[in-house]
Order: sequence, then C-alpha cells, then structure tokens
Amino acid sequence: MRFGPHAGAPVCVGLVSGTRLLSNVYEYELGCEGRILRCPWHGWEFDLTNGKHLADPNVKLRGFEVLVEVGELYIMLAS
Ligand code: FES
Repeated sequence: MRFGPHAGAPVCVGLVSGTRLLSNVYEYELGCEGRILRCPWHGWEFDLTNGKHLADPNVKLRGFEVLVEVGELYIMLAS
C-alpha cells in the first residue's frame, strides 16, 4: 500500500506564501512569494502554477480548469 503525502486536508484553507529556495548551509534564501500553497495539516508545499509538490514533482494536487469572465471566476468541475 502506498501512502500519499497529502491525506486530503482542505488545502483551500492553506496559507499562500513563498518558500525557502536551495541555498548554502546557514543561508536562507526566500522566493516564489505568492506562488506556494502550504497544506494546513502537514505543511507540504505545492506550486500553485502547476499543483506539483515542491520536493517530489510526481506528487500533484488535483486541479480544475478555471475561467474568468467580466470579473467573475468560474471553476469547471466537469469537462
Ligand atoms: S494532508 Fe498531509 S500534506 Fe496535506
């Protein structure tokens, strides 16, 4: 049995922020501000532009097509 890293927490209430970038020891370089969604249960970080987990790009959140029309946002739940 394979346990996924994301156990289905409501990521819609997760924080959107940046993340720590690869850097040398004792250096803390931050980046990707406003592009990272942090899961509220275990803190896994996902890139909002493609849904991929930052550490394992094979893990991905489910996504939906969206449409913005005249200031309204539509989420396409079925194709
Ligand atoms: S529920 Fe654990 S990372 Fe989302």
